Amino acid sequence: LEKDYEDIDVELVEKGTVGLIYLDRPKSLNALSDALMYEVVDACQIFDKMEEVGAIVITGRGKAFAAGADIKEMKDKTFQEAQKSRIFSHWNTLTAVRKPIIAAVNGFALGGGCELAMACDIILAGEKALFGQPEVKLGTIPGIGGTQRLIREVGKSRAMEMILTGEAFMNAQEAAQKGLVSRVVPGDNDALVAEAIQVAKSMAALSRPTIAMAKEAVNAAYELGLSEGIKREHSLFCSTFALEDQKEGMSAFVEKRDAQFKHR
Ligand code: CAA
Repeated sequence: LEKDYEDIDVELVEKGTVGLIYLDRPKSLNALSDALMYEVVDACQIFDKMEEVGAIVITGRGKAFAAGADIKEMKDKTFQEAQKSRIFSHWNTLTAVRKPIIAAVNGFALGGGCELAMACDIILAGEKALFGQPEVKLGTIPGIGGTQRLIREVGKSRAMEMILTGEAFMNAQEAAQKGLVSRVVPGDNDALVAEAIQVAKSMAALSRPTIAMAKEAVNAAYELGLSEGIKREHSLFCSTFALEDQKEGMSAFVEKRDAQFKHR
């Protein structure tokens, strides 16, 4: 973590158990440049490998989470360039991170910003969070999973309205009501980030392999039908019985004491 990132800031907090990533291009409302994409993915992969880290928080500096892909950077790209560079596809690497990732969305989460938040495992919204997919207004369409993920979170009609008008942004209250975010955290950005860190810390205190299996099982629901998904869950559930932490967790319950998980 001794790296000098340009477009992000990283910190270890809560005694190193939580990796915190700030998208840090506030002058461009944290527009997701290529460089920023590689840095976020790199930092997440490093946190994923670091033993002490149990969960990751991504947030934005300033008044935006991220106002989308960097329009200035991509505007002159040709079809061949976009295709050859597999534009933005490196973001998909985030789905291979085994530790939980929380997006703390404090302001604009537009276009790629909304898509990045949805690629995380949990979204906590600040009161000023605003979600939208304005790409059609630029003559393009969402390109980091928005057309696939938004429909699952908010339903077809609302997703179509957002994606096909490029307007109809969703505020924090509606996002919570529809289940796009898990809840709205009252107060300012600092309160939001502090809460996200607390949620991350609570996950980091549990058994790492158990949390990774729980995340994998939930994510299987995106890819598989119900009976295949239930089979996957069953095999992961059975696998937890091979963990010392499962023995410890259940013994601690029976003995009325706090569990001392070994793998955390
Ligand atoms: N890319 C590059 N620069 C951006 C940007 C973006 N996505 N969003 C904002 N900026 C820059 C602005 O150009 C401006 O820079 P200058 O000071 O150099 O002019 C600076 O950030 C501040 O922005 P504004 O002056 O526009 O701030 P505002 O408060 O008036 O408006 C906003 C805020 C409504 C979010 C407006 O900035 C906006 O509409 N941004 C673009 C949103 C968008 O279309 N996002 C989709 C991008 S495409 C995409 O993401 C594709 C994909 O799915 C992969």
